[in-house]
Amino acid sequence: MLKQKILVTAALPYINNVPHMGHIVGSHLPADIFYRYCRAKGYDAIFVGGSDEHGTPSAVAAKELGLHPQQLVDKLHNIHKKVYERLNIDYTNYSRTSNLSHHKTVQDFFNVINENGYVSKGSMRMYFCENDNMFLPDRFVVGTCPKCGYESANADQCESCASVLAPDELVDPHCKSCEATPIMKESEHLYIRLDRLAESLDKWIEGNKGTWRSQVYGEAKKWIREGLRERSITRDLEWGVKVPSEALENKVFYVWFDAPIGYMTFTREIGEDVFDEYWRDPESKIFHFLGKDNIPFHTVFWPGMLIAHGGFNLPLNVVGSNYLNFEGQKFSKSKGVGVFCYNLLDSDIDIDVLRSYLTTVIPETKESDFKWGEFRTITNNELIGKLGNLFNRTLNMIWKNFGGQLNYSTLSDLNGIDNHLIEAIKTEPLSIGDLFFGVEFREAYRRIMQYASEGNVYLHKTAPWNLIKEGREEEAKKSLYLALSLCRSLAIVSSPILPESMQRLWTDQLNLRGSLSTPGIWDEATQISIPSDHTINKPEPLYARIDDKRLEELEKHLSKPHSLEELVK
Ligand code: MF3
Ligand code: ZN
Repeated sequence: MLKQKILVTAALPYINNVPHMGHIVGSHLPADIFYRYCRAKGYDAIFVGGSDEHGTPSAVAAKELGLHPQQLVDKLHNIHKKVYERLNIDYTNYSRTSNLSHHKTVQDFFNVINENGYVSKGSMRMYFCENDNMFLPDRFVVGTCPKCGYESANADQCESCASVLAPDELVDPHCKSCEATPIMKESEHLYIRLDRLAESLDKWIEGNKGTWRSQVYGEAKKWIREGLRERSITRDLEWGVKVPSEALENKVFYVWFDAPIGYMTFTREIGEDVFDEYWRDPESKIFHFLGKDNIPFHTVFWPGMLIAHGGFNLPLNVVGSNYLNFEGQKFSKSKGVGVFCYNLLDSDIDIDVLRSYLTTVIPETKESDFKWGEFRTITNNELIGKLGNLFNRTLNMIWKNFGGQLNYSTLSDLNGIDNHLIEAIKTEPLSIGDLFFGVEFREAYRRIMQYASEGNVYLHKTAPWNLIKEGREEEAKKSLYLALSLCRSLAIVSSPILPESMQRLWTDQLNLRGSLSTPGIWDEATQISIPSDHTINKPEPLYARIDDKRLEELEKHLSKPHSLEELVK
């Protein structure tokens, strides 16, 4: 049987700044957990992403710093890459849209949809700043959103209500660099005929109703209901992928046209055959992970591009999340509100402790909140109190009373309590796996902790320490052997969330061989198969409890905002 192919992507971050925790929980972390699960389950999975380096965000940022955009994105791309590595985000390929291979892919893609008749030419009235003597790209213009009244909306999209705006809809627009009120001026542009794609898109969206999160489906339908119009795919900018000159001189593609094609480029960079397998073979499944404001682009605009092109797979699931706040407020670097990932690079924070907490606040459906107090509670009470505690108690008893070797494996004299635990080991990993695959990460986390709690209850009920005292050694061994089997199972099912500490436990303490990233390891979590002569190593607590002092230290260090100037110098 051929293995199921799964392509996982995380939205390509804009390279005009460094990410904060909102970006991590919105796309990179859930995509990583999902990918790690798929690999463990034995699917043929790859995970691609990269830096979204074009567009006005980076052009604006570079201009403000007096740098060429390329200089800025070179620096920032490296920082982004390091941050994701630090967080153990296991990209198969984390690349960048300024790569030449990407430009070529975008131009080829455009040529096909153009030949297919999905591109039209027209002229557009654009914001033009007479003061700066230039057409103002979307992000150079700010004003009030006509839909929700938010005052710092950009010309193409309102960050607050996620509405996508037509070029002249903004109320009271002004130039971002000089504050002047821009005029409207004619400029020639290319458009994608979304109007002609509406029907097929709607049919496709309907077909995904049962798979997608309801707010993602709702957002997509809202777009369709409002009516799809032609949408411009070119910009008056220097920085970006050049439009082939037969089509139009001296323009670049709109960043939202080039960026999603990055998912393809970055797959192709792994190999031409890999590209065909994941994008053309209809059996392959694509999962996009992204934040709230990216939902319309991934449910309408990008699939529309794919339909216009033809021959490529559309995403199976568009896993859109909601926003993460910080202690009840919006993340804001200028106000110093938030947790900023650049600080992770010189922080001694245990990344798995952070991943554990972050998993519990992934804004899967509703908005959620990063709260330092909760970070401590989750760490001390859940991660350490339930999971770490079970590992510690079990391994310590085996180490101290039996020199690390139980010499036990033939299960006999099983009672109801034993059978209950055995049943859990046979079934829980599968249920937890289904939750991961169903992108219900918070629920998966809760179930893992509950699974660990079953072990703690089991130890409490069988009380091997009493059995040892009473000389009932065989019974004590049986209890510890089952608890140890549960620990092994837990290491596997927790590893998508806690990759580093579970591997450490696996190798250094459980003394088991191989890597938890081994494809297909998942189903071993349902097995009770530790050999009788197996010897564990000396146990150590996996995580350190967080007290007031440590919390304050982390908070202070990770909340420090950095100016872009500081980052790129
Ligand atoms: N750069 C965009 C953002 O950060 C996301 C681009 S995702 C892609 O909001 F689909 F275009 F790749
Ligand atoms: Zn201006």
